[in-house]
Amino acid sequence: MSPIVTPPAKDRLRLAIQKSGRLSTDSLDLLNRCGIKVKAPKEKLLLHAENFPVDILFVRDDDIPQLVMDGVCDLGIVGENVLEETALERTSGGTHNPYVVDRRLDFGGCRLAVALPEERGYAGPADLAGLRIATSYPRLTKRWLQEKAIQAEVVLLTGSVEIAPRLGLADAICDLVATGSTLEANRLRAVETIFKSKATLIRCDRPLEAAKRHALDILLRRIDGVQLAAEAKYIMLHAPKSALAEIKKLLPGSENPTILPLAGDDSKVALHAVCQEAVFWETMESLKRAGASAILVLPIEKMMM
Ligand code: PRP
Ligand code: ZN
Repeated sequence: MSPIVTPPAKDRLRLAIQKSGRLSTDSLDLLNRCGIKVKAPKEKLLLHAENFPVDILFVRDDDIPQLVMDGVCDLGIVGENVLEETALERTSGGTHNPYVVDRRLDFGGCRLAVALPEERGYAGPADLAGLRIATSYPRLTKRWLQEKAIQAEVVLLTGSVEIAPRLGLADAICDLVATGSTLEANRLRAVETIFKSKATLIRCDRPLEAAKRHALDILLRRIDGVQLAAEAKYIMLHAPKSALAEIKKLLPGSENPTILPLAGDDSKVALHAVCQEAVFWETMESLKRAGASAILVLPIEKMMM
């Protein structure tokens, strides 16, 4: 067996992802679907992908923008919420924010919301005047309060923000809401959305070495392939020749379907098409009404255009 040659670190991309939290599983999943093999982190901080020139650094999500902007990592997968908060912090401290968003990813969707104890009435932002608002996102919160011209006190908490009202540390919170179950469990109610966020792939804004640039191009192409395929479906059906024009129009986001003869039936054809948008039951029902039969909708794993 020939020895496995590990390229030197300057030829390997270094990507920071969240060690544990909302984005960690999805980040690893994405790499996996891009064909990059990484074992789940145990106690390791840095893991080398076996079959792709990338090293993965597992860290707290709050540290990711900093690591990328300072050039410690070439890439990072992080929520726009953390990214924007860090950018505001660095700007106010006079530090430059050298990063580019290479891709907006299709996971990690959440919103930063102001929430109040359920029993507390709320008619509008003016009701927040004079309150103490606990948050891990002081800069985003203050920016929003300023835009609304509300005077309120912002209390910085780095974790377990949702219990602050119960402990008497604050009257309200401003925290991330994904499913809403954390708020519900703590008898809180979201009253204002101040920022909407998704996961993004960010990159340090300085020229990459040729080998890294090449690896990044491949990685981005694969991410696009995975994201394109996520919604896309392969649809197969039988259609009467007379209804073909109408049926083609009903297919969501598809160009040039393949039309094949159907053995033993001259009046019908088989149609195969890639639909770029989700195919709903309603679409299938419309196809059926238009004369289609034997309709199959299949998932697509990967795509390269
Ligand atoms: C956020 C937030 C809540 C939870 C909300 O934490 O602080 O705890 O997610 O999600 P839910 O609406 O689905 O209950 P996050 O995972 O970002 O961790 P972190 O704040 O420790 O970084
Ligand atoms: Zn965090």
